[in-house]
Amino acid sequence: MISEKLHVKLNDQLNFEFYSAHAYLAMAAYCTEENYDGFANFFLVQAEEERFHAMKFYNFLSDMGQRVTIAEFPSVKNDFTSILDVFQTALHHEKEVTRRIYELSDIALDEREHATMAFLKWFIDEQIEEEATFDTLIAKISRIENDPNAVFMLDEELAKRTFVAPAE
Ligand SMILES: [Fe+2]
Repeated sequence: MISEKLHVKLNDQLNFEFYSAHAYLAMAAYCTEENYDGFANFFLVQAEEERFHAMKFYNFLSDMGQRVTIAEFPSVKNDFTSILDVFQTALHHEKEVTRRIYELSDIALDEREHATMAFLKWFIDEQIEEEATFDTLIAKISRIENDPNAVFMLDEELAKRTFVAPAE
């Protein structure tokens, strides 16, 4: 049985995932404005992933007989100084997500809430991937930042990213 404390925290995370989608949409918009359509595509796909994450929380809470409530979203960062700044902001955001998932897992563990622990395992694994993806891209962008041709090629590469609903 999910405690009220855990219920509130899970519902908070559902809302934070939607907030993440907004944050990435703002990053996509900045990239489009800068004529980096590939980077923009990358963040549009990222936003879709975040909505998918949010819906996983939605479905889990519903399956557990818990009421879902949708909160108002705080405003997101819209102003960036460079593509590197965008990716660094994204990594910072993902580290915050990881911190939140760990906090949730700690509560579930304290309460011996095994169903929630099993549910959160997927997100723990996902966060390893998310942070690694942004880490790698930041390293690449830092290296090629002053080489427009190389930036163009990375933009082309990221234009190919598509949203695939991850397997359960
Ligand atoms: Fe997420």
